[in-house]
Amino acid sequence: MAEYETILVETRGRVGWITLNRPEALNALNTQVMREIVAAASAFDADTAIGAIVVTGSERAFAAGADIKEMESQTGLDMVMGDHFGGWADFAAVRTPVIAAVSGYALGGGCELAMMCDIILAADSAKFGQPEINLGVIPGMGGSQRLIRAVGYYKAAELILTGRMMDAAEAERAGLVSRVVPAAELLDEAGTVADTIASKSLPSLYAAKAALDAAMETPLAEGLRFERHVFASLFDTADQKEGMAAFREKRSPDFQNR
Ligand code: CAA
Repeated sequence: MAEYETILVETRGRVGWITLNRPEALNALNTQVMREIVAAASAFDADTAIGAIVVTGSERAFAAGADIKEMESQTGLDMVMGDHFGGWADFAAVRTPVIAAVSGYALGGGCELAMMCDIILAADSAKFGQPEINLGVIPGMGGSQRLIRAVGYYKAAELILTGRMMDAAEAERAGLVSRVVPAAELLDEAGTVADTIASKSLPSLYAAKAALDAAMETPLAEGLRFERHVFASLFDTADQKEGMAAFREKRSPDFQNR
């Protein structure tokens, strides 16, 4: 496995774990962190022995945002020519389901990283926000687009325009968070959810994620057409035959990921 300096990477069963590890900067997302997360997630994605990925941080911070100290002296031209944040698109494009296990601060780029994942499990200590307005800028890793889709215009606008944080309970009510769990149980719960997902057939997981993505990106009629095609294509997999035979025979399916 590749050597990483800003993240910890391990495999538990069929689940790949990525733990942000810059405690001195509350896991602020600098360019190196972005490259390492993308590399680790892409490697897991290319490995059919992996059926789910968990991204987590520390108890105190999932990630407190993009690295302000790295960005401070940049010009607009530097940002454009360096395609600052552009690499995150490769993380969002990972086909394997990704769970964000969020404890503590998920601010700015941290909240945006969580929103690039498919499921957000939050510790009751979690705090979410897009505080970029306090720095004289705006969200730059998808916050102005994904937050609206998650919580609706008015909640997103209030958060982005005031920069205030919301706690885990409010984030769950708003629909940003899949589920809130006691902080001490966060990683176990993330592991349980990830194991559950990883036990399914990979082709159907890829298809489900592609259909969910389509719902975010396309008009309804186009999304429905896409869903029907993808649904039909799964009937050419051995796992569809196995899944339906197992139901009829009242046993657990034995998926082969093909
Ligand atoms: N970038 C760089 N360093 C950061 C950081 C960030 N986003 N967030 C925290 N740190 C550093 C602090 O500078 C501090 O380092 P030093 O000890 O060397 O000074 C260390 O992490 C600990 O932070 P604090 O002492 O500030 O801890 P705290 O408990 O007092 O406060 C906090 C915690 C409220 C999260 C506060 O650190 C904070 O407000 N951080 C910045 C949050 C923010 O503005 N995020 C948005 C960044 S811009 C962005 O993300 C753009 C985008 O859309 C992609």
